[in-house]
Order: sequence, then C-alpha cells, then structure tokens
Amino acid sequence: MVLRVPDDGQLDELAQVAADGVVPAGAVYFPQPWASGTPRESARRVVQNHWWARGDWREDNWRLLLAVFYDGQVIGQQNLSASDLFVTREARTGFWLGRRFQGRGFGTQMSAAALYLAFDFLVAQRVMSTAFADNAASPRSSATSQTVYGASP
Ligand SMILES: CC(C)(COP(=O)(O)OP(=O)(O)OC[C@H]1O[C@@H](n2cnc3c(N)ncnc32)[C@H](O)[C@@H]1OP(=O)(O)O)[C@@H](O)C(=O)NCCC(=O)NCCS
Repeated sequence: MVLRVPDDGQLDELAQVAADGVVPAGAVYFPQPWASGTPRESARRVVQNHWWARGDWREDNWRLLLAVFYDGQVIGQQNLSASDLFVTREARTGFWLGRRFQGRGFGTQMSAAALYLAFDFLVAQRVMSTAFADNAASPRSSATSQTVYGASP
C-alpha cells in the first residue's frame, strides 16, 4: 500500500472511485454528506476538496489529503489534518475507501500509516477521529481517540 498526494491524473482516478460508490445507499457517514449524492456530485466534491485543501494550506492549519494506492490502483483516501499542532499536539484523521475495497483490512492499514506519520514524524501526542454511531467499520479500523456522534441523519 502506498499513500501519496495525488497528481491530477491520480486525483481523477480517486474521483472515479468516489463516483463508483463509498457509502451504502441511504447512509450518511460524513457530516458534509459529499458521498451521498449522485456519482457526478461525489466525484466533483472530491476534486474540489483537494483543490481547497491545497489552496488553503497554512503552517498552523493544514489538511493533508492522500490518495491510497494498492497494487498500483487508487482505492481511497486518507486524511491527516491539524490546527496549531505545535500548541495542541493534536491531529485528526479521516478516511474512505471505494465500496469494492472495503472490509479487506485496507482501512486499518491506511489509518495506521497516518498515525505513524503523526506520532513518529510530526509532533502529535493525540490523534482524534469522528464517526457517526451507526458506522461500525470506522471506529474499529482506526486506532485513534474517538468522538462518536449520534446516529447519522
Ligand atoms: C471506514 C472504512 C475506511 C474502514 O475500512 P475497511 O477496510 O472497510 O475496514 P477493515 O477491513 O480494515 O476493518 C476494520 C474493522 O472494522 C470491521 N468492519 C469492517 N466493515 C464493517 C462493517 N460493514 N460493519 C461492521 N464492522 C465492519 C472489521 O471487522 C474490522 O474489525 P476487527 O479489526 O475488530 O476485526 C471503510 O469501511 C469505508 O470507507 N467506509 C465508508 C466511508 C466511511 O465510513 N468513512 C469513515 C467516515 S467517519
């Protein structure tokens, strides 16, 4: 497995993975339900989110959005972000996989990679993630401190 900032072509592939489906029909696993719209909307939001995160990058407030590759193929996205990391020593993670890549252990591995980066290469002492209470796979695959929202809307 490889995690890297995608180039334009790889971002296109990532958007296609999102368009092919990330959440089950009717499920809302993200506070901003970017993955619950039409395939075209999901793809566009992925691309716009990467552009926004890069454009808005600041030393004290950043979001690193990494494409996840397995066997050379884009399978999903792993995020690591922080505000005032040197003060708070706290980072946040988020992640998603194309539906056909879920349930095969990838989520656990990519989350572990983000924690390795945060703890061993940056100065994080705590990494948080959030999930809706009815999203069973998310907390089980991410070895972070968890904030669990109520059931998704
Ligand atoms: C959340 C997600 C990244 C997890 O990755 P994954 O590769 O599917 O998860 P893994 O195969 O690594 O499984 C991790 C754990 O979750 C459990 N799990 C996986 N899918 C599950 C499901 N649908 N229901 C319940 N548990 C599940 C596994 O049994 C495993 O538990 P264990 O370690 O105790 O055996 C992935 O399922 C996904 O992209 N889901 C949709 C988007 C999403 O919910 N993102 C997170 C928003 S907070």
